[in-house]
Amino acid sequence: MTPDIRPLIAGNWKMNGTRAELDQIKAIADGVKTPLSQQVDTLLCPPITLLYVATALCDDSPLLVGAQDCHHKVCGAHTGDISAEMIADCFGTHVIVGHSERRGDHAETDHLVRAKAEAAHAADLVAIVCVGETLDERDAYQTLDVLKRQIFNSVPADANAQNTVIAYEPVWAIGTGLTPTRGDIEVAHAFMRAELVELMGREGAGVRILYGGSVKPANASEILGIDNVDGVLVGGASLKAEDFLAIYAACEPHVVKAA
Ligand code: PGA
Repeated sequence: MTPDIRPLIAGNWKMNGTRAELDQIKAIADGVKTPLSQQVDTLLCPPITLLYVATALCDDSPLLVGAQDCHHKVCGAHTGDISAEMIADCFGTHVIVGHSERRGDHAETDHLVRAKAEAAHAADLVAIVCVGETLDERDAYQTLDVLKRQIFNSVPADANAQNTVIAYEPVWAIGTGLTPTRGDIEVAHAFMRAELVELMGREGAGVRILYGGSVKPANASEILGIDNVDGVLVGGASLKAEDFLAIYAACEPHVVKAA
């Protein structure tokens, strides 16, 4: 973790979850009501169909609720899309933009991702901008080049430590059970920190950089202990309250150490 940066434990439910799973959201909302929530932020991004109900369930909980994507325009003829304003209207606080599944499945470019992050900021949402290399890029030793390109092209000019979070998610580590080595994560996060400082000046030193890709209770503590890892973005393991809460609890020794 980075001293002075408040960690964020975020869950991304992707296209999983119906009303039958609202009890898991309630269990997470209740489970994060511990003293640790004074030092650690928690966020859940369920499918958009559950967003409004989820925010109501979290009324008396520190658990924040967000969305997984937004359109870059405020409104208009865009069948099936959701605007950042609509997310804010349902009391969402964050939106993930540029997840590799969106970049891959919907051919989203760095420039579109930046426009989405700008739309999020205009709606007073925090944009979680995802970056990360594919396996081919990693094998070709292009990881840092990819991260540099994605950060410079996807992070908007108005980004600051309050309205923007970066999530480093190596594409090959998502949903595969594979994770980079501790050393690889350390190098990538230190590199991104330097790039953010170059891009944003001193402000870049305070931006949260999350790691994502096969994070689970068994590896969370080790990952959270790496320098410049200011939290995690969790897919599969966020679907079960028990696992999400175990990852949240794994922050404890690290925030105690940093305090
Ligand atoms: P995973 O997904 O934890 O299931 O690997 C992470 C993500 O895509 O955000």
